Amino acid sequence: MIDMRSEDDMVAYALETHIALLPYIPELLADLEELGSDAEAITSVLDDLNLTKSTTVVDLGCGKGAVAVEIAEDLNLKVLGIDLFEPFIESCTELAESRGVSELCHFIHGDIIKLAGKIEPCDVAIFAALGDVLGLLDQTVSVIRQYAKPGGYIVISDGFIKDGGSSDFPGFEQYAERADMIARLTACGDTLVSEIIEAGDCDRGENEGDMIAARAKAIAARQPEIAAEVLNYAETQAAEYKFIDQNFIGTIWVLKRSH
Ligand SMILES: C[S@@+](CC[C@H](N)C(=O)[O-])C[C@H]1O[C@@H](n2cnc3c(N)ncnc32)[C@H](O)[C@@H]1O
Repeated sequence: MIDMRSEDDMVAYALETHIALLPYIPELLADLEELGSDAEAITSVLDDLNLTKSTTVVDLGCGKGAVAVEIAEDLNLKVLGIDLFEPFIESCTELAESRGVSELCHFIHGDIIKLAGKIEPCDVAIFAALGDVLGLLDQTVSVIRQYAKPGGYIVISDGFIKDGGSSDFPGFEQYAERADMIARLTACGDTLVSEIIEAGDCDRGENEGDMIAARAKAIAARQPEIAAEVLNYAETQAAEYKFIDQNFIGTIWVLKRSH
């Protein structure tokens, strides 16, 4: 797959913003550790897989390190985190240090599309809350698979459209109902070994939206020249939380990579 987007385009798309706002993203998201995923739920899914101490884990698009650090801390496993937004790699390192798991975590700045096939495959490859950042679901799965050993696990934290729900929101156009999503995820011959439907938590979405809005207001007051953009970002985030709450069911899918 040839992807002509720049790194900044890709990060901006993943964070639902545009390039001009990227310098403000660390501040806008300063109060959030998880950027869309539920680190505790993903860790609990891994715990159920009865992994051994030598299990290697890679967290693709690790954001600020919430998932990687939780896994290292709770399961005592080695985790490699990869993210394309350099300021987040600094956050990851700080988080791992603050939770005492620096020795188990290694974070690198890089593009998971370009690095696919160049990094030793792991026993578990996690892809959490990246949605359609890598393109269509079949392209996405083909990238993730390259990070998992044959027979290893692929953990995808994403979701599907509720019965009668809509996919009419930017970034959600390719989402479908459950059966269709599972068919696409397993089209390469991998086996679905578990599926955890997440309990919708609209309070979490609302709280996160409020925290982003408060940060946006502070930036707008300090820097009027960027006020419209940051306030618009906060509004879009709030609208997305609402859309998700009304139309989407968050799910963690665990696949076993075929040989
Ligand atoms: C919504 S965040 C999710 C972060 C994290 N997985 C979590 O759940 O907290 C999406 C992340 O994907 C990263 N990203 C986007 N495209 C990427 C790529 N091609 N390679 C590596 N990381 C990428 C972004 O920088 C961003 O941190």
